[in-house]
Amino acid sequence: MCAVASDYDLSQRTLQFLSSPRQQLIGGKWVDSASGQTFGVVDPATGEEVVQVARGNAADIDAAVAAARKAFESGPWHSMTPSERGKLIWKLGDLIESHARELAELETLDNGKPFAIAQAADVALAADQFRYYAGWATKLLGDSIPISVVYAPGTEWQAYSRREPIGVVGQIIPWNFPLLMAAWKLAPALTCGCTVVLKPAEQTPLSALYLGQLICEAGFPDGVVNIVNGFGEETGAPLASHPGVDKVAFTGSTEVGKLIVQAAAGNLKKVTLELGGKSPNVVFSDADLASAVPGAASAIFFNHGQCCAAGSRLFIEHSIFDDVVNGVAGAAKQIKVGSGFQADTQMGPLVSQEQFDRVTAFMEAGLAAGAEALAGGGRVGTRGYFVEPTVFVNTNHEMKIVREEIFGPVVTAMPFKDIDEIAAVANNTNYGLASGIWTKDISKAHKLAKRLRAGTVWINCYNIFDAALPFGGYKESGWGREMGHEALNNYLETKAVCIQL
Ligand code: NAI
Ligand code: MG
Repeated sequence: MCAVASDYDLSQRTLQFLSSPRQQLIGGKWVDSASGQTFGVVDPATGEEVVQVARGNAADIDAAVAAARKAFESGPWHSMTPSERGKLIWKLGDLIESHARELAELETLDNGKPFAIAQAADVALAADQFRYYAGWATKLLGDSIPISVVYAPGTEWQAYSRREPIGVVGQIIPWNFPLLMAAWKLAPALTCGCTVVLKPAEQTPLSALYLGQLICEAGFPDGVVNIVNGFGEETGAPLASHPGVDKVAFTGSTEVGKLIVQAAAGNLKKVTLELGGKSPNVVFSDADLASAVPGAASAIFFNHGQCCAAGSRLFIEHSIFDDVVNGVAGAAKQIKVGSGFQADTQMGPLVSQEQFDRVTAFMEAGLAAGAEALAGGGRVGTRGYFVEPTVFVNTNHEMKIVREEIFGPVVTAMPFKDIDEIAAVANNTNYGLASGIWTKDISKAHKLAKRLRAGTVWINCYNIFDAALPFGGYKESGWGREMGHEALNNYLETKAVCIQL
């Protein structure tokens, strides 16, 4: 471990984790990568390397898939009752809670987000995700089906359906909520009795590896959860195309989502995708501005805008445009940007040099195209990947900053006239992940909610996530839903059993 990590006041358990080898979890054992190679994990607040982790490739994916197959087809996981499975999953939720400090520290070190937020949001939601799904393990019901078999008069039948685990699942996750994305993926898959090969993002592997330790401590049988670190093309791609994998679940860019679909075609494995967004956030003139203004600011600035659901297109009814946009710009200017380990930090650095370059290039493109930055528009400091919370006005629908996902703390604001105009404009995007509406008029809110082509509509709130609430996208924002009972379908097959009496 380098000096960077020891500069922070980290817990003993985190320091111990960082100073032990950070390998891969395959078949219940911690092992080096097949190639023996490692790669560096960078602290985004400084740009300096913190530790090295094992660097997986196709050979590690092969080993992990074989371990997952074995655990799926034989052994204790295969014969475990739903109640026993549910208890293990619940126990993992408890362990996450009792290791909240370490997990949040790793999240801050790896991703840059403020420690207090990592603990209160990421870790708490991850624990809750496992507890929510633990209860479902005993409730995966089939149907008893009265059938008629019209071409066989006089016969008698009994028929039913069974919900069965889909099999070996590959899960590829991003870096914006590293632990929480692992939880969103693992919890429903385990509840359904699947076995998993998880590939964390190369920018943020640490909390998933720590979670792997907790999975072992909880007592999950060997091979039920395997974790292979590595890069997209080198590790993710062989998992997505692997003939031994029955289903792949992916969260990340729309561009890679399309590659996943192609890779999955070989054995027609099932696919779910949670991809990008350019979500509209609509403020009507009758909104409670005392909550709409800070709500619009946090819709984009939460997690430094690195949210697939970020409210990145802010639409404000004409008559209140100046008040709202100035309020949001004022809020942006007051945000304290700094290291996630400083107690008063409200916004940390972006996750990586790549994202920093990407987001600052969008800012420059916006300014070059004639947009005006009411707040922000550039980097903060000279070290680490910090950028200013940014509010653009004088924008139009042709601008790159209005059309493309920026995935940073950058919002474009535009005025609108009425509900018909805003319904069309809000839907004028290839994405359809989330949306927000701020109004006191309940009919208007419901009417617009119906017209928005998006997987989530938040009314008088934004970025509200709950394990029970399905989340996912229309259009190019993805396939399928995560969370809620809907996510169980991602990991189940339905078998019809038909008996002649
Ligand atoms: P990405 O889509 O390349 O990475 C996400 C995950 O996919 C990582 O684990 C990565 O290793 C893996 N991956 C990359 N290429 C792969 C391949 N060919 N086959 C299989 N797995 C592969 O996203 P990246 O490059 O980190 O970020 C680029 C942009 O993507 C962001 O600026 C943002 O717009 C979007 N994004 C969206 C996220 C979301 O939550 N929907 C999360 C992260 C990024
Ligand atoms: Mg990429």
